[in-house]
Amino acid sequence: MLTKKVEEICNRQIEREGYSSNLYLAMASWAETKGMAGIAAWLFAQSDEERMHTLKFIKYVNERGGNAVVPEFKKPPVKYKGIPELFAEVLKHEQYITASINEVLETAVTEKDHATTNWIQWFVKEQMEEENSVQQIIDKLQLAGQHGDYFLDRDIMRLRDAK
Ligand code: FEO
Repeated sequence: MLTKKVEEICNRQIEREGYSSNLYLAMASWAETKGMAGIAAWLFAQSDEERMHTLKFIKYVNERGGNAVVPEFKKPPVKYKGIPELFAEVLKHEQYITASINEVLETAVTEKDHATTNWIQWFVKEQMEEENSVQQIIDKLQLAGQHGDYFLDRDIMRLRDAK
């Protein structure tokens, strides 16, 4: 059985994972309208992953005798300045999510909830990988210079496949 504090922080994370899914969906849709089909595909896949994270939290809370709540979500931005700015935003967002996952872990430890402490490790690892893969994209964009958007759009799904 989850303690109230663990249940609350997991529900907070449901909102954050759900928002992440919508944020990447909005970014994907924007990239698609700019003719960046490869980058859009990467972002659509990222949005699906975040929905999977949301579901993972929902099922976990319910399985442990809590009540998962599907909240209202803030509307993500509709427009983005450009591809480098978009990926800088993705990295910043993932760093925020990492900090948030760490807070779930810290709460589980404080509440002596060993099951949640153990379960959340999957997310700790996932965040490390996500930050790393976005950083790689940013590095590639910088390396490619002037035509970075074009080369990234062409190659980005290969980076995902190589994961
Ligand atoms: Fe599920 Fe990338 O945060």
